[in-house]
Amino acid sequence: MLDSWKMLKLKQTMKWRSVLIFLMLTGIGGAELLPPERSYKFLMLLPMGSKSHRNVFMPLVEALADRGHKVDMLTSYDIQHKNPNIREIPHGLPHYPRGKINMFNDANTVLGTYHMLKDNMCKMAKDIYHVPRVKELYRKRKEYDLIVIDHLFHEFIYPFIHEMPFITIATSGLDSRQSAVLGNVLSPAYIPNSLDIPDCKHVFGRIFNAIVSIARPFYWRHWQVIPAVQQEINMHFPDLPPLLELERNQSLVLMNYHFSTDLTVPLLPVQVEVGSMHCRPAKPLPEDLVSWIEGAGSAGVIYFSLGSITEGKTLPIKYRNMFIEAFSKLSQRILWKFEKDLGAIPENIMIRPWLPQQDILGHPNVKVFISHGGLLSLQETLYHGTPIVVLPLFGDQPGNGGRVVANGWGLSVNYENLSEDLIISSVKEIINNPKYKENAVKTSRLYKDQLNSPIERAVFWTEYVIRHRGAPKLRSPAASLSWAQLLLLDVLAVFLLVVILSFFILQWIFKKVLGAVFDQNCLKRKPE
Ligand SMILES: *[C@@H]1O[C@H](CO)[C@@H](O)[C@H](O)[C@H]1NC(C)=O
Ligand SMILES: *[C@@H]1O[C@H](CO)[C@@H](O)[C@H](O)[C@H]1NC(C)=O
Repeated sequence: MLDSWKMLKLKQTMKWRSVLIFLMLTGIGGAELLPPERSYKFLMLLPMGSKSHRNVFMPLVEALADRGHKVDMLTSYDIQHKNPNIREIPHGLPHYPRGKINMFNDANTVLGTYHMLKDNMCKMAKDIYHVPRVKELYRKRKEYDLIVIDHLFHEFIYPFIHEMPFITIATSGLDSRQSAVLGNVLSPAYIPNSLDIPDCKHVFGRIFNAIVSIARPFYWRHWQVIPAVQQEINMHFPDLPPLLELERNQSLVLMNYHFSTDLTVPLLPVQVEVGSMHCRPAKPLPEDLVSWIEGAGSAGVIYFSLGSITEGKTLPIKYRNMFIEAFSKLSQRILWKFEKDLGAIPENIMIRPWLPQQDILGHPNVKVFISHGGLLSLQETLYHGTPIVVLPLFGDQPGNGGRVVANGWGLSVNYENLSEDLIISSVKEIINNPKYKENAVKTSRLYKDQLNSPIERAVFWTEYVIRHRGAPKLRSPAASLSWAQLLLLDVLAVFLLVVILSFFILQWIFKKVLGAVFDQNCLKRKPE
């Protein structure tokens, strides 16, 4: 009896396991979702999104288009899509000079980056509403079922969301500022809010983190950036509610974040984890790359790419030569994404202006990824279980480098310290010490073990918001409280008042009583 029950249990578990595996294998593309009730119209706004921001959007855009929805995208790219349901509408403004930014010169401090962003956002706010295509889009915006906005640096586009249901995509993952707007104030006791991750185990780290957690949003939202953007917007739309007021009405955020690769934090139902949504299994490589990679034998291959914003061209010659020298002394072969022909180079280096990064990272003979440490590159290397050497420059890269070291996925090397020896020793350390590969593979397995795929979740919740007209029930009541109410400051003020009043009342009573006793004593003594 017991045995047959056990067998039944076992069979059930096996069944569920195979269902899970089936879901994992077929989940990509939203195959498990019920068909939509009708074809929806989406407007996606990412006019200042860099290539990497766009890459976060595209899997969702493609999945929605495959389900028969229409997607119009305001971007800075002019790309024709095979799928007739996707239309990219380039605004044509030059304010975000893609690929022309030299990150080795400007903007590699936090304030430098903010300054550049503020400048570009103000110019965008000033000019974009004069572009005829954008005007037309603005006029027709109420024809759309849902607006989807890039959450970072896009406050200047908020006039579009007035009186419209909208969601955001947090391309950069968890953002404490945005989380607080949704009613989830994250504790600076353990959630870093700085680009250089502070050590929250020590009191000084927590003090620093607490100060930055208050100072950064204040600088951005109330002091430097948004007030300037708001001024420009007021010129075009004098009757609109303030931008930060409009922002509060978001129905949902799809976060490029997942606990398996990031910190584990408490989230609200409106904060949907779709981290590494763009990652997919490796596809077969072109013939020349396969023979190059497999021809490297057991020594393996190093893949080297500095991402899409920092073009290889801007890499100072000093560093370029350092890499070539170091690579020539290694027994590995090197696949290097670089946009320029370098003339005579050592035989073990292959240079291409573009390379299929995910398919390369997924090849078992690729042993190390040398990267600028952008978020998407880090997610891809973790998805494919390949260890990494990060060379961080600006933005979130130093923090990502810190995460790589803390999690044992690889190493982080500063440009100031960079030398031929350091490049060689870092690569050798990763290849000779198995712990990096093991950690990367462990994280990859954790990430892939999910009930449904991130893209399915993204599609489900996006349609959910339309089905339920902005899905007001999803929102936390905390979102409508002011920060003083949320932190119970008003309650504390009342408590304080009561304590102070009680003190004075007690003092007064005490005095009266003492006074009366004293007076009686005096009266008694008087006759003597
Ligand atoms: C807030 O969002 C809802 C739906 O999500 C929309 O109907 C409403 O008009 C929006 N309010 C403002 C002021 O934009
Ligand atoms: C440079 O390397 C030294 C020795 O490894 C290290 O102590 C120092 O912190 C590094 N400097 C920077 C800026 O990373």
